[in-house]
Amino acid sequence: MQIGIAYDLRSSMAVPAGAPSDRLEEYDSEETIDAIAAAIEAAGHQPRRLGGGRSFVEAVLRQPPDLVFNIAEGSGTRSREAQVPAVCEMLGIRYTHSDPLTLAVSLDKAMTKRLVDAAGVPTPRHQVIRTLDQLSRLELPFPVMCKPLFEGSSMGIRRDSRASDAGELRGQVAKLLGDYRQPVLVEEFCPGAELTVGILVRQGVPTAIGVMEIAPRQGDPGSFVYSLEVKRNYLEEVEYRVPPRLPPELVQRAERVALDAFDALDCRDVARVDLRLGADGEPKFIEVNPLPGVSPVTSDLVILAGKVGLGYRQLIAGIVDSARARYGI
Ligand SMILES: Nc1ncnc2c1ncn2[C@@H]1O[C@H](COP(=O)(O)OP(=O)(O)OP(=O)(O)O)[C@@H](O)[C@H]1O
Ligand SMILES: [Mg+2]
Repeated sequence: MQIGIAYDLRSSMAVPAGAPSDRLEEYDSEETIDAIAAAIEAAGHQPRRLGGGRSFVEAVLRQPPDLVFNIAEGSGTRSREAQVPAVCEMLGIRYTHSDPLTLAVSLDKAMTKRLVDAAGVPTPRHQVIRTLDQLSRLELPFPVMCKPLFEGSSMGIRRDSRASDAGELRGQVAKLLGDYRQPVLVEEFCPGAELTVGILVRQGVPTAIGVMEIAPRQGDPGSFVYSLEVKRNYLEEVEYRVPPRLPPELVQRAERVALDAFDALDCRDVARVDLRLGADGEPKFIEVNPLPGVSPVTSDLVILAGKVGLGYRQLIAGIVDSARARYGI
């Protein structure tokens, strides 16, 4: 079948004046699109590049593909990741990954935490701060983590995003409010191991393909932040451990938390769930990535898949197969 790839290239997006240096962090490179196209071809389908935004809409209006492989991040608002699937639904085109509702909710970390919390999934306590004045109403114990409310790819997440007192927090929140023009999520800091869980739907069943621990090579693991600086220098700064260096029962509980969050948010086909062990040593939900990055070299999901013996082409084919099975095509 013909599979159209929906994507937004970093090289084609404009950086607004005064925007922070990580403004385009979520967008993809040509190499990633080439790798996805090669994987689709290897699975016996015809890949077609649709791009994102207007060119995507024009291309699918001209000739709809049999299936859209969606990794388009969209642009503009907290609902940006919902743009491509919403157009697909409007035009009756089938597509991979989650639906617009799940994608829009998942980009807003507070909305997401409210839903998973209501489903009984443990997640650190949080408050949303819209103005500096609201910091006087903060009721969380230090240290806390602060991050933009609706970004991903570690945009706005730096080594100093962990604040240990009111002064540090005020500085961080002032910077985030100014740079990202959106509210700030302030959350209890979880000092335990950092884990990410890859989930792929196989034969209709969400399945954890593996749990990966992301451990700092230097410094105190208790205050580690998998920040933008670390992600850009990951080869030197972190060690990826599959399986994690943790008791197997604890790893199983982490898988359960990730799968419960996947369910609570009605995710489809694939997702990567980020967790951290809390002060009590138990896994806590941090956030979900229902459009996880699939750079063949640097993306956590791809690194994790590789470590459990699932090659890049199998991973992409697995996502396509899950979508095909949902639609019965
Ligand atoms: N409550 C917390 N306690 C401890 N560390 C945290 C917390 N929240 C975030 N972090 C750290 O910050 C990192 C980035 O946070 P988060 O995953 O929420 O952001 P993101 O930009 O959406 O990530 P991604 O790159 O996975 O899309 C986490 O991987 C973790 O290291
Ligand atoms: Mg994350």
